[in-house]
Amino acid sequence: PTIHYILKDGSTRSIDAKVGASVMETAIHHNVRGIDAECGGCCSCATCHVYVEDAFMDRLTPPDDMENDLLEGVASDRLPGSRLGCQIVITPAHEGLTVRIPESQV
Ligand code: FES
Repeated sequence: PTIHYILKDGSTRSIDAKVGASVMETAIHHNVRGIDAECGGCCSCATCHVYVEDAFMDRLTPPDDMENDLLEGVASDRLPGSRLGCQIVITPAHEGLTVRIPESQV
């Protein structure tokens, strides 16, 4: 599935992502700037924060308690579309998923 990342400068990177990889891992592997992922994906750092575009919110499983707690502490504003990129595992249903990179992760 193709995942679109909207970067801080407003440009978009569209990446052919692997099913089973997370939105965070896909970004790291393709050098998408602005996702730090300091903890490496174990849901403890909150530096993989992304904003999921409204149209895709209902295609994702809602955040669990742990993700929800971490989202309280993200560096940029928490918005309705805020998610941790390491907790979104890509499936074929995510074709076209669009996420925006926040201003800051720390
Ligand atoms: Fe650390 Fe997602 S990579 S919480």
